[in-house]
Amino acid sequence: MEIKTVVSDIDKIKAGAIIVNFFEEMKHLDGDIATVDKALDGAISQLISQGEIKGKLNEITIIHSQGKLPADRVAVAGLGKQPELTQDKVRGAVAETCRQLRQKGVDSVATAAQGAGIAGISLETAVQAVTEGVLLGTYTFRRHITKVAEHGEMKQFLIVTSHKTELSSLEKGCYKGRILAEATNLARDMVNEPANYMTPGHMADTATKLAETHGLEISVLEREQMQELGMGALLGVTQGSRQPPKFIILRYQGSHSAEIDMALVGKGITFDAGGISIKPSEKMEEMKGDMAGGAAVIAAMGALAQLKPKINAMAAIPCAENLPDSKAIKPGDILAAINGKTIEIISTDAEGRLILADALGYANKLGAKLMVDVATLTGACRAALGTVCSGVFGNNQGLVDKTIAAGAEAGELIWQMPMFEQYKEQNKSDVADIKNVGGRYGGAITAAQFLAEFVGDTPWVHLDIAGTSLSDKEQNYLVKGATGVPVRTLVNLALSLAQEEKGR
Ligand code: BES
Ligand code: MN
Ligand code: ZN
Repeated sequence: MEIKTVVSDIDKIKAGAIIVNFFEEMKHLDGDIATVDKALDGAISQLISQGEIKGKLNEITIIHSQGKLPADRVAVAGLGKQPELTQDKVRGAVAETCRQLRQKGVDSVATAAQGAGIAGISLETAVQAVTEGVLLGTYTFRRHITKVAEHGEMKQFLIVTSHKTELSSLEKGCYKGRILAEATNLARDMVNEPANYMTPGHMADTATKLAETHGLEISVLEREQMQELGMGALLGVTQGSRQPPKFIILRYQGSHSAEIDMALVGKGITFDAGGISIKPSEKMEEMKGDMAGGAAVIAAMGALAQLKPKINAMAAIPCAENLPDSKAIKPGDILAAINGKTIEIISTDAEGRLILADALGYANKLGAKLMVDVATLTGACRAALGTVCSGVFGNNQGLVDKTIAAGAEAGELIWQMPMFEQYKEQNKSDVADIKNVGGRYGGAITAAQFLAEFVGDTPWVHLDIAGTSLSDKEQNYLVKGATGVPVRTLVNLALSLAQEEKGR
């Protein structure tokens, strides 16, 4: 899809459709919608007075212009009540509108910066939201479908202003929105890809390609190097699989210092059958997406390489399959992680925290100043928070707050979970330093407390995305399948941390 910013009046644009906005409780028409209504001889105001257009959020009305405008159609998109508008509602409405237009065979669309100047939304932010909306909302994953789609492709999307002075803001917002959305869609592609394609090796290849495209440093550790480093927990998990494990390390250097300002760690289990503690078969296919944390971290690094904040970031993605086999680890086995701590395996299905232990320990050993890990870690987190928000856990309230704020800006909701040290009791083992399951209750929290054993004193947050990495329906800018959460949160967080560094 080509996305362009142009200086023109919206009623002069030739396209399959132009989008104009209407708000609930709007008394009279002004701006673009008034101009377009006039050109259509009052067709819009008539629909409003007849109560067919109410301006409710995501209410979309498509009107044919019958030669009264250069554009073939006008889509009137409701944005709800003006004072309640958010950039996330703009993202969603643009997505819904573009999908409906695509369904009707429209392949070129033009819009103004929807929401700019309303409820504190800046022009640049509005354009960013519009850009993310169209790219995220029209995302499809059809690689393995041989039949051609019923709908065509959206080919061209124009963001229009009639003021030449606004063009640079339009371009900035469009640039950032495109990078964020494309990174999110890359993560979605990786998560949607089945496990027979998206193996640990393929994850490494994808990261390598991304690194070559955008100029990131990359190294991929093989089994032998994992052994040298003492990554006994990761090596334990991979034992039952024929796919060689990979430990992907990406580096983005945005400042001259040698320090790692931020380490991103992502769970890269390319399929989680549970191992010897095998999962029930119902919905097991969803476990092809158990590398969503790793995919998000890889994609976020690609976005950083393009947005170039003045910060150094490293990503560590341990990749492995978790399968049952005669060589697989067993409940009762004891593994030693990179920091020397020994772990009693209670369930081989609690594998995510094992590979993360080595990855967090690795980043910590390198002296990372701050760490963020992302993982589809526990069914318990999904049970607690549902599919609406991710859980965040941490040892540093400032960093937790910044992570939640970065998520809010992205429309990726995050809720903080408790880290009372009483929960640690549940992870105590009789035969090793710690065990990998802390019993039935508070499972998302005991998992986070397990990870805390491998981060030392480094400021750290853990995002549990088990409930948010997949969507079971098309909704706003989400489509069925992978959501790409929390790519945009991670990028926003890195940008805000870089901003802070600058202020110092
Ligand atoms: N990958 C799963 C968690 C998960 C569950 C992600 C549902 C997405 C949707 C993880 O490896 C796992 O199996 N966790 C176990 C932990 C238990 C054995 C302590 C779980 O949540 O049941
Ligand atoms: Mn598991
Ligand atoms: Zn898992």
